[in-house]
Amino acid sequence: MSGIGRHLLSIEDLDRAGIERILDRAESFAEVSGREIKKVPALRGRTVVNLFYEASTRTSSSFELAAKRLSADVVSVRSIGSSVEKGESLKDTVQTLSAYDPAAIVIRSPHVGAAALVAGWTAASVINAGDGKHEHPTQALLDVFTLRRRLGSLEGASIWIVGDVLHSRVARSNILALRRMGARVTVCGPPTLLPREIEALGCEAKPSLEGLSQADVVYVLRMQQERMREAFVPSLREYVQRYQITSTHLDARQLLMHPGPVNRGVELSADAIDSPRALISDQVKAGVAVRMAVLYELLVGSPVLEAVA
Ligand code: NCD
Repeated sequence: MSGIGRHLLSIEDLDRAGIERILDRAESFAEVSGREIKKVPALRGRTVVNLFYEASTRTSSSFELAAKRLSADVVSVRSIGSSVEKGESLKDTVQTLSAYDPAAIVIRSPHVGAAALVAGWTAASVINAGDGKHEHPTQALLDVFTLRRRLGSLEGASIWIVGDVLHSRVARSNILALRRMGARVTVCGPPTLLPREIEALGCEAKPSLEGLSQADVVYVLRMQQERMREAFVPSLREYVQRYQITSTHLDARQLLMHPGPVNRGVELSADAIDSPRALISDQVKAGVAVRMAVLYELLVGSPVLEAVA
């Protein structure tokens, strides 16, 4: 276990008990989100800075809502429209925003390791909201939360992660979190999109959808074309033919997940997205409660992250 107490930079910062504690806390915040007045005073008078250097809809909106529902003051900065466009460095931006004495900085960046760097430049708790293709720990926590609610326990469950694993921070964080929770993980996709070292994370790798019927959960990833500088698949048409998940791939028992945003008609067919097997909007909803729980545990709770450091 790495020795990071104040921050959430990687799923490796958490053991199973730590994950479960965040999920239990998230259950109580899900109850708050079901009330008419969706607010508790836990972070009143404290400041949360959201710093997004990459496109985001779900992660940025849910971190903002999570902090607001905990009564924090929230400042959201995006690279577009900020001094980042004028060439201000990440370090200078973090030092500028640290002058407001924030309790937490949430950072998304296209660069691997950016959140860890930020943690070295500020007294605030740092939460990694995605650093390049490395990690996206709160996504994995909300996915595990969504599945635990459906399945009761992940122990022994078979999860297939299908698609562009190579460029996916979601895949890395999810493999780590799902394995910690006792699930069996299989990654599946074109060999060019499966990193060679992936099996070292404790999962199996498959080059085709054959065997998908044994999965309890099919977790589909977006083709991350913005991270591809070369052609990883011969053509999108061929990818669709061999790897697109449609509702015919899923039986009545199997659950379908996707972190969003979906390339409709590429990795998922429209009928699969709209099928009752899909948990995609449950995942989005879970994002708020789980991010409230992470903020709470880092800033208020007897620190779960410290306990395992
Ligand atoms: C993911 C991300 O940004 O890593 N999206 C998200 O946070 N919901 C996955 C993706 O962009 O494909």
